[in-house]
Amino acid sequence: SAHLGDDLDHVLYTQEQIHARLEELGKEIWADYHDKEVLLVGVLKGAVLVMADLMRALPGTVTMDWMAVSSYGSGTKSSGVVRILKDLDTDISNRHVLIVEDIIDSGLTLNWIRSNLLSRNPASLEICTLLRKPEAAKVEIDCKYVGFEIPNEFVVGYGLDFDEKYRNLRDIGVLAPHMYS
Ligand code: PRP
Ligand code: MN
Ligand code: MG
Repeated sequence: SAHLGDDLDHVLYTQEQIHARLEELGKEIWADYHDKEVLLVGVLKGAVLVMADLMRALPGTVTMDWMAVSSYGSGTKSSGVVRILKDLDTDISNRHVLIVEDIIDSGLTLNWIRSNLLSRNPASLEICTLLRKPEAAKVEIDCKYVGFEIPNEFVVGYGLDFDEKYRNLRDIGVLAPHMYS
């Protein structure tokens, strides 16, 4: 529709709440990494906006790289089998790597990416996700920095899409059921 916000059932987090939480996470992360050279690894495309705001919440030198992956299997459910569409430009051996994600849903995507990156022998590997759905977890992901734990509902906005749309919505909200049923 003309106004993306009109397609929401309700707003879960406003842009102000998101930015405030990312500032807090930035402080935590910086306390842990200020004496290291951290490489932020974003997962395309959902993590684009989290990366943009999180990296600006870090006051010193950081670098950034991106991976794009695709789940094999049908439909919208991820299968856990992942194919790399775009690999890192960076050799991460002996690097301090922090994966930046928008959401951990089933956990299958990040579980695969995590073990893939671990096989490249980074000095350390941690995960930061803005959102996590504990009730949807199919595999437990050890995630050091979590923005918000959310109920098992279909959320869009701030990078999160439905059918590639709604990523540019400033807030995060629950999509009205009539938009996808
Ligand atoms: C979404 C989201 C996470 C992943 C989480 O990405 O951005 O990367 O799914 O799901 P999981 O925990 O169940 O594996 P998606 O594959 O939709 O690609 P996108 O980032 O381009 O939207
Ligand atoms: Mn994604
Ligand atoms: Mg998606």
